[in-house]
Amino acid sequence: MSDLVKLTYQDQTFEFPLIEGSENEVGIDIKTLRAKTGLITFDPGYKNTGSCKSSITFLDGEEGILRYRGYSIEDLCEKASFIDVAFLLIFGELPTKKELELFNKEIRQDSIVDEDLKSILKSFPKAAHPMGVLSSLTSALIAFNPNSVDVDSDQDMREAIIMLMAKFPILVSWTHRKVKGLPLNYANTSLSYVENIAHMMFKRPHQDFTASPVLVNALNKLLILHADHEQNCSTSTVRIVGSSHAGLFASVSAGISALWGPLHGGANQAVIEMLEAIKADGGDTKKYMAKAKDKNDPFRLMGFGHRVYKNFDPRARIIKKAADEVLQELEITDPILQIAKDLEQEALNDQYFIDRKLYPNVDFYSGIIYRALGIPTEMFTVMFALGRLPGWIAQWLEMRKNNEPIGRPRQIYDGKTLRNI
Ligand code: SDX
Repeated sequence: MSDLVKLTYQDQTFEFPLIEGSENEVGIDIKTLRAKTGLITFDPGYKNTGSCKSSITFLDGEEGILRYRGYSIEDLCEKASFIDVAFLLIFGELPTKKELELFNKEIRQDSIVDEDLKSILKSFPKAAHPMGVLSSLTSALIAFNPNSVDVDSDQDMREAIIMLMAKFPILVSWTHRKVKGLPLNYANTSLSYVENIAHMMFKRPHQDFTASPVLVNALNKLLILHADHEQNCSTSTVRIVGSSHAGLFASVSAGISALWGPLHGGANQAVIEMLEAIKADGGDTKKYMAKAKDKNDPFRLMGFGHRVYKNFDPRARIIKKAADEVLQELEITDPILQIAKDLEQEALNDQYFIDRKLYPNVDFYSGIIYRALGIPTEMFTVMFALGRLPGWIAQWLEMRKNNEPIGRPRQIYDGKTLRNI
């Protein structure tokens, strides 16, 4: 295959190099396009545009493949813990025993936040959406840890990363406790990373609490499956905010806001609200399928479709199986799980969905498990953010280490030309 492409424009032919990745993806390197031709590309939503080279996550949307640093998510869910996967994503390899001990030790030492953050949390109305609270608290962390901003050395970056890995679960649990009207828990550093998350979220002051294996295993799997997903909307947000050297905490705070949207991570909350609405409406899935296909109706089948996956989202397969297992182990029958399965069957056999390659995505079944674990619906996207944190950190670190330029797309202006007042 030639390693060049030719572009003919106004009787001139221009050549541009091809760039090829380790999984045989090929792109046109257009870094010199405007200088050579005066042209720019036009690609709303960046559906055809690669923003960077990355060695963190590979996904194949046609084959339904997802790997973190070369390891399949199926393997990692079976054989690794979330903190192993976080280390793998951030530092590139699964940790040795010694590396993991140090990583856990450093995180435990940082697993505390300034008490004044409580007054910021308290100032929010009870009805505040937890994603807005989490994004604000994450940004507020900067004020209490100003040395996390100007990080240029590997050591400074590592310290900022450890700080965020340690403090973010506390902010997540405090956001959850605010929603539930419960007193705030501190970290219990005698527990594993995920057991500590469960402790901070669920331990009530008047009762003993030990996280059940069902809860820990389900959380571990859900957090691993949400840990990274290459250049999605919120990760691209983290990278572009980070490219201005605004610092890791500010970049992740922006990523949380991007994830909040119902077309992105907010879909897991929207799926449950949709299933509840269908149940309240007598469980008439056919009516909602018709609404999803009606171009005059803004309704979409939440949890279906994906910008990249044109096959089953591999995460959805694993989460669907885990949902059955968790409900069985907790002896819960959740009627909306059956509605979800009925919807899935109808959609998989519907020509509109088949033609558009719309399959269940990561958000379609995850809410079923969160519900069974006693997590409120408005907290589902916060749980997504908790899982995605190591991926956001890894992508930010890669962008900084590659000394990538500040992100600044061009535009095609189609407004008024010069006119006088
Ligand atoms: C996540 O990018 C990532 O990697 C994200 C993520 C991650 O881990 O970071 O995987 C997490 O965000 C998963 C997606 C969660 N969102 C939802 O479930 C919301 C519902 N899905 C859609 O809104 C939609 O599928 C998107 C936003 C996910 C993808 O949109 P695209 O790629 O821009 O596709 P599109 O909107 O151009 O749709 C193509 C066609 C359109 O019909 P036509 O105009 O061709 O006739 O498919 C239709 C759409 O109307 N369509 C749907 C649909 N999704 C797309 N029709 C009904 N229901 C849907 N859910």
